[in-house]
Amino acid sequence: MTSQEIRQKFLDYFKSKEHLIVPSAPIVLKDDPTLMFSNSGMTQFKDFFLGYKTPTAPRIADTQKCLRVSGKHNDLDDVGRDTYHHTMFEMLGNWSFGDYFKKDAIAFAWELLTEVYGIPKENLYVTIFEGDASENLERDQAAYDYWKAVISEDRIINGNKKDNFWEMGASGPCGPCSEIHVDLRTPEEKAKVSGLELVNNDHPQVVEVWNLVFMEFNRKADGSLEKLPAQHVDTGMGFERLCMALQGKSSNYDTDVFTPLIAKVEELSGKKYTGILEDEKDIAIRVIVDHIRAVSFAIADGQLPSNGGAGYVIRRILRRGISYSYRFLDMKEPFLYKLVAVLKDQMGSVFHELEKQGKLVTDVIKSEEESFLRTIETGLIRVDKLIQQTIANNSKVLPTQEVFELYDTYGFPDDLTRIIAEEKGLTIDEKGFEVALNEQKLRSKADSAQKVYDWVTLEEGEENFVGYDQIEAETHITRYRKVENKDGEFYQVVLSNSPFYPEGGGQVGDKGVLENATESFEVLETKKENGLIISLINGLPKDASAIFYAKADATDRKNSQANHSVTHLLHEALRDVLGTHVEQKGSYVGPEYLRFDFSHFNKMTEEELALVEEKVNAKIKESIALQEFRNIPIQEAIDKGAMALFGEKYGDSVRMIQFGSSKELCGGTHVKNTSEIGHFKLTSESSAAAGIRRIEAISGDKSDEYFKNLEKQVLELSQLLKSKDVVRSIEKLIEENASLKAEVEAFKKEKAKGEIGDWKGAYEQKGDKLLLVKKTSLDSGSVKDIVFQLKKEIPTSITIILSDADGKPMITVGVSDDLAGIYQAGALIKELAKEIQGGGGGNPGFATAGGKNLDGLENAYQKALNI
Ligand code: ALA
Repeated sequence: MTSQEIRQKFLDYFKSKEHLIVPSAPIVLKDDPTLMFSNSGMTQFKDFFLGYKTPTAPRIADTQKCLRVSGKHNDLDDVGRDTYHHTMFEMLGNWSFGDYFKKDAIAFAWELLTEVYGIPKENLYVTIFEGDASENLERDQAAYDYWKAVISEDRIINGNKKDNFWEMGASGPCGPCSEIHVDLRTPEEKAKVSGLELVNNDHPQVVEVWNLVFMEFNRKADGSLEKLPAQHVDTGMGFERLCMALQGKSSNYDTDVFTPLIAKVEELSGKKYTGILEDEKDIAIRVIVDHIRAVSFAIADGQLPSNGGAGYVIRRILRRGISYSYRFLDMKEPFLYKLVAVLKDQMGSVFHELEKQGKLVTDVIKSEEESFLRTIETGLIRVDKLIQQTIANNSKVLPTQEVFELYDTYGFPDDLTRIIAEEKGLTIDEKGFEVALNEQKLRSKADSAQKVYDWVTLEEGEENFVGYDQIEAETHITRYRKVENKDGEFYQVVLSNSPFYPEGGGQVGDKGVLENATESFEVLETKKENGLIISLINGLPKDASAIFYAKADATDRKNSQANHSVTHLLHEALRDVLGTHVEQKGSYVGPEYLRFDFSHFNKMTEEELALVEEKVNAKIKESIALQEFRNIPIQEAIDKGAMALFGEKYGDSVRMIQFGSSKELCGGTHVKNTSEIGHFKLTSESSAAAGIRRIEAISGDKSDEYFKNLEKQVLELSQLLKSKDVVRSIEKLIEENASLKAEVEAFKKEKAKGEIGDWKGAYEQKGDKLLLVKKTSLDSGSVKDIVFQLKKEIPTSITIILSDADGKPMITVGVSDDLAGIYQAGALIKELAKEIQGGGGGNPGFATAGGKNLDGLENAYQKALNI
């Protein structure tokens, strides 16, 4: 069975069991401060489990792109070293939201594995939760009984809290789980050791394939468990491991999920993959084919490598891959980007984003490779210096601070430093390095640390966002919780009616006030988390259940929405002018300005920029009324021609924003008519990443301010120049300046000529040669000319000129041709330049050196006299 067929059979099976099949959510999470990436299939359903949102269907199934590289679930260090852990993997899952529970979940899993996929029953083991006294949790007898009906009891294993109680993170929905393990060993091996002993023991051929979680609890921030209002099922099956089991392989990397990628690495590197676990070259190949998937999917979903947050995690994964290929495959040129095409062929038909974003993904990876390989090259020079220094100091250990700096500041992989040092018989101070690393981690943790308390729920149910229609609303608090961070103590509140727009879709969250007759609180920010709109306020009302009046800051909101609407017009104008390959890749919309990142491969020309600006302003002038379609089916919006963005998670019903021909799926707030935008002004165009351009612009009040400032500057200029025609006046100034400069040059030449005459007569006989040592303030160009001329005209001479023009010390040495071979201008200058802390060089007949220490010129002069 091919991996494609295996995936399809899973989806078909659950479809036949009345599950709604949904697409994978983006791998990169936006608007979720608690999690960077989808790390399991249930991530996109978090709000359903928590009861904040009504599920779209009682039964759902899908295959979800997952990434386990940070936080509670992090497998990064195992990847490459074993045969079955990955950074990015597909999780096949089925869910019941308050519908079926343990009985059906177990029956479905068993039927699918043994009958549809035909895995022999004698190869399977299952585990159940044994209970935990410290948490007051009982053994999962119900699961045991359901399993007993299909599998012999000696294949049911009790598991502890670590293995059989699944939790999404430090807090959130959780519950006992039952895992299915498959034993893929040969009959001979099985005869030697029973599989029972190998379950959950890191045996590469006895692995967990499916986890059935019975969600019953919510882990609160204080660590306690509370019962969820309903019982749910959340299952996750490792797709790559299932393929290994069904394709009769002993490693995930031997399945057709990975073999095409491995073949390409072999072809490009000329190295053969032998599948050996400890072989460094094989580890490197496994790392590469794993990491390229993680990085490609993340970029296709809109997460570009960067220096912070999720982008930094992606950059580090890619760099890990580059570092392995550099070290163990001897690949010193970019090549990982060539694997994207293979991945696209393999998976593009299931994950269309790979298909559509292939070029961008390829370009971004290539440019990251180029830049990191440069980092490695310059790092190698630094390491070399450190090694010389260490040897010169008679030490065997590289200096810790410098080694850490190489890693931390220059991004040079520490394992590379280690290897190079070892080659020279040196080491690094591992303990010291670890201490430095931990200190750095603590520093960055302290900056962002905040303690978040549990929610106090005053009223259950869904709250209302009313901010599309009004910026003020009568409301009350339905939930609140305390937050402590380095700035003090705050409260997050959820309101029954919220006019505050939560940060999202690039647009900043609203600020404002929450007040009533007795109290008033500042609303500092508004964000979304698990579907809740959360506003941060600077205190807790004495009566938290009182009625309040919520007011968003009207000016900020007005400016933000002008910038948001104009972003849509800009997007359309860019596609008009540059072509439909232009797609939004990120945006920031605030009250002050807007930033728009989009796919395009060249710097925009002045003409293109002017045209875009013109088109946007024409739309503003047309006074186009906003047409807003709320809660329409996504298909209807697409049929109407709405633009959807990659990496955005859209529900079944969406909101479409239309200004004439511009139509976008968008949750932001907008002007009612484009005329409200006033005027649009581009302020910059630059590169954001490979294949991505960035535009910054202003509109409305800011644009007015911009033009007012310009006018003021012109006015000041015309007053200074005493002319209305400032351009002509400045042209005149430039002309005058040029002619004055020419005059000065001529004057300098005249002066130099005079000096030559004086200097010629000033040579003194010193032994067998003539020596001239002279101080001057002539500019360096003139000095060079003169020395050149003198060394030609005066035979058997050495000329040394020390100049201090513009406050910079400079020494120039000329040696006449007949002395060449006896005296070296280069050697002389080296000696003299020490006095001015300078360096320089030249040829045997002529050399110059600039320096830092002006006061040293006198010493250099004395030294020169004694040559
Ligand atoms: N959410 C469960 C897991 O990730 C199924 O294992």
